[in-house]
Amino acid sequence: MLDLCDVPYVGCDARASRLAWDKPSAKAVLREAGIPTPDWVALPHDRFSELGAVAVLDRIVDRLGLPLMVKPTQGGSGLGTAVVRDAASLPAAMVGCFAYDSTALVERYVPGMDVAVSVIDLGDGPQALPPVEIVPRNGVYDYAARYTAGRTTWHAPARLDPDVVQTVAGVALAAHTALGLRDLSRVDLIVDSAGQPHVLEVNVSPGMTETSLLPLAVQAAGLDFGRVLGSLVSRAAARHR
Ligand SMILES: Nc1ncnc2c1ncn2[C@@H]1O[C@H](COP(=O)(O)OP(=O)(O)O)[C@@H](O)[C@H]1O
Ligand SMILES: [Mg+2]
Repeated sequence: MLDLCDVPYVGCDARASRLAWDKPSAKAVLREAGIPTPDWVALPHDRFSELGAVAVLDRIVDRLGLPLMVKPTQGGSGLGTAVVRDAASLPAAMVGCFAYDSTALVERYVPGMDVAVSVIDLGDGPQALPPVEIVPRNGVYDYAARYTAGRTTWHAPARLDPDVVQTVAGVALAAHTALGLRDLSRVDLIVDSAGQPHVLEVNVSPGMTETSLLPLAVQAAGLDFGRVLGSLVSRAAARHR
């Protein structure tokens, strides 16, 4: 709509936004580019009903193992997501997910540290800001943990060894580039106990509230948030001209 109305904007174009927004499509591009992302199956509701839930779910558990993460293919804020630790809990998780989306993403659950890496481009190419570690009080970064004060604590920068920080930054930049993004993004990933990152998703329109992750990362990098935003806006305006 912004392109149609000839309005300049910060961020990537519609094509890249659409790609990043659809988790299985984005994961396929990441995997093609050699960027680690947990194994997954995307299952549309219609097929789920047609083929018989039990048969399909058995196959998924055989393929991916347990535990699993079930989430809507499009969406966010943790709505419709569930961790599945035993096969018997999978049908209910699928039904819960289908309340939010007509296709479910079933993904291998990766235990580890929840980390968000913000990427910004102030004119010298994309740069990864310090990773932010997310510690939900009850262990799950769901809707309540995100939007209720006191339910989540953050460490900015994340408590990671410098070599892991470098690896994570490299993977986040590679994801930003592989998806054809522009200006800014936030790469959500899990860092496992061996220090290996696994990309979950890339957000093209990261949260900008006082408790959001990109502003925390900007602060951790020692940058002024207002100046960063000013620079992004100026660049978007210049591109438009
Ligand atoms: N495969 C996974 N393994 C472990 N935790 C996961 C996995 N997928 C999602 N999570 C958890 O759920 C949260 C939300 O998942 P994410 O893919 O970022 O979706 P969204 O933020 O769009 O709801 C993550 O920050 C993480 O805490
Ligand atoms: Mg996320």
